[in-house]
Amino acid sequence: MSDQKVTPAYEVIDHFYDVVVVGAGGAGLRATFGMAEKGLKTACISKVFPTRSHTVAAQGGISAALGNAGEDDWRWHMYDTIKGSDWLGDQDAIEYMCKEAIPAIYELEHQGVPFSRTAAGKIYQRAFGGMTTHFGEGTAKRTCAAADRTGHAILHTLYQQSLRHKAEFFIEYFAMDLIMDDDGSCRGISAWNLEDGTLHRFFGHQTVLATGGYGRAFFSCTSAHTCTGDGNGMVARAGLALQDMEFIQFHPTGIYGAGCLMTEGCRGEGGYLTNSEGERFMERYAPSAKDLASRDVVSRSMTIEIREGRGVGKKKDHIHLHLEHLDPEVIHQRLPGIAETAKIFAGVDATKEPIPVLPTVHYNMGGIPTNYKTEVVNPTASDPHKVVPGLMAIGEAACVSVHGANRLGSNSLLDLVVFGRAAAHRAAELVKPGTPHKPVPKSNDDFGIARLDKLRHAKGGTSTAELRADMQDTMQSHCAVFRTDETLKEGCDKMQKLWAKQDDLSVTDRSMIWNSDLVETLELENLMANAVTSIEAAHNRKESRGAHAHEDYPDRNDDEWMKHTIIRIDEKGKTDISYRPVTLTTMTDEVEAVPPKKRVY
Ligand code: FUM
Repeated sequence: MSDQKVTPAYEVIDHFYDVVVVGAGGAGLRATFGMAEKGLKTACISKVFPTRSHTVAAQGGISAALGNAGEDDWRWHMYDTIKGSDWLGDQDAIEYMCKEAIPAIYELEHQGVPFSRTAAGKIYQRAFGGMTTHFGEGTAKRTCAAADRTGHAILHTLYQQSLRHKAEFFIEYFAMDLIMDDDGSCRGISAWNLEDGTLHRFFGHQTVLATGGYGRAFFSCTSAHTCTGDGNGMVARAGLALQDMEFIQFHPTGIYGAGCLMTEGCRGEGGYLTNSEGERFMERYAPSAKDLASRDVVSRSMTIEIREGRGVGKKKDHIHLHLEHLDPEVIHQRLPGIAETAKIFAGVDATKEPIPVLPTVHYNMGGIPTNYKTEVVNPTASDPHKVVPGLMAIGEAACVSVHGANRLGSNSLLDLVVFGRAAAHRAAELVKPGTPHKPVPKSNDDFGIARLDKLRHAKGGTSTAELRADMQDTMQSHCAVFRTDETLKEGCDKMQKLWAKQDDLSVTDRSMIWNSDLVETLELENLMANAVTSIEAAHNRKESRGAHAHEDYPDRNDDEWMKHTIIRIDEKGKTDISYRPVTLTTMTDEVEAVPPKKRVY
């Protein structure tokens, strides 16, 4: 790519809102409608049509201690989430999430989410991994479900509520960069309208990043093609911090070869895993929770079975998920989408034969650091909780941190809804509707145009698809379920070389209208920032905790490593790593903090 300075001449349209939300998945839409409902002039910007956001693919459900299927208590939910996080989650934020889960779910019900029902007409709840009663004793049925299409049901409801409250949507606009002011505050974002090629600046007194995860940094993932960590990339380019990027969740049951999700609800409804000997091996690894241990534990156990030669199939490289013993009526009623997906992507009739599965990249525990009010934090040595004025982050893009080193299944939809709602509450406290805007910051009047223009005219020798494939292969093999110093170091070196190759990119389509080559190149830049920070943070953490299973340091080391990774990356791909403390205290005296202990299931 040529280094010549470009003087772009693009049409730029300015918009002024009270608040600007970027992303229209579950978190973005919950924030959007909540802010509009509170009388704030709200813009929601999304690169895809809202109901095509990745939340639509969420299957098994959303957790809340409603107690519709047996006794439950939000304090038990909090305990399970802290244990699930392997004591890297911030306990004040976890307390907030588990307590607020209950009103948040009833709000969803009243807003129109068509939850499945019990015989008594209550919201249906099923078991999910790591969810217990009485602080680790029994099995809780805590996951509220709309069959196996819970995300779909929630997303459509939230979009309808946003329209009802007159939020304004800018659909198929690609968010490019943050507009930062000289005083370090965020003033809005720049975006590219894919339909007509115009560029836009959206100014808001609060900008909310709800851009989702970055599963597509890996070769095999359950994430949509659009999950490219765009908000994280924007934050990284603004010189702000990312947090705990090394913690990447592998869902135990992605379809072998295809990656499509087979919900944990399969095991919640009585499904189980076997190896080539027909053994229900989870009984050995997690004698109490068995197939419903936390995801990191199940994924590691499956990987060990395969490594030790007990995988199934010709290559002995996957595991069987059994549902065929269940009453077909259960599958028909509770898991209809699963049966369909298994048929299409594995050619298997789930009522008659096992489904071939493999641990598959599913979720990013790390992301943009925030406090539980959803304000973005850019930690410094003297102030680990330093807020970036005007900037919020929610959902998978954010690291609150309620999931710590490992998220429990069904806590993700919950995170979206609870913190989308919290962002609306906080924005209403901070912004008075109709507050005039300050003049446009002079020091940042480029806001990503030169970058876009340079990429649009890139004439190097490497295609975006080629570079992306190399990145995905590198991350898949070097930042996997199990890691070692050697594989991580090799992966870091390879990723640095791939970062440098961005200077040799070639974009063949020069158009500004529906230019998918350019969109994917912008997405690749975002993915690269996520990938490099993930693998470098992983290489730096010399212990095993949650999803970070380091074979050279197999134990959790609370004395040295019970701390959040803070990582920044510069334009050359060089990272700067520091750490900040985990919050081990609660917000209120309604519940006690959970002191660290050995994590067994
Ligand atoms: O397995 C699932 O249905 C996924 C749920 C989740 O990631 O929370």
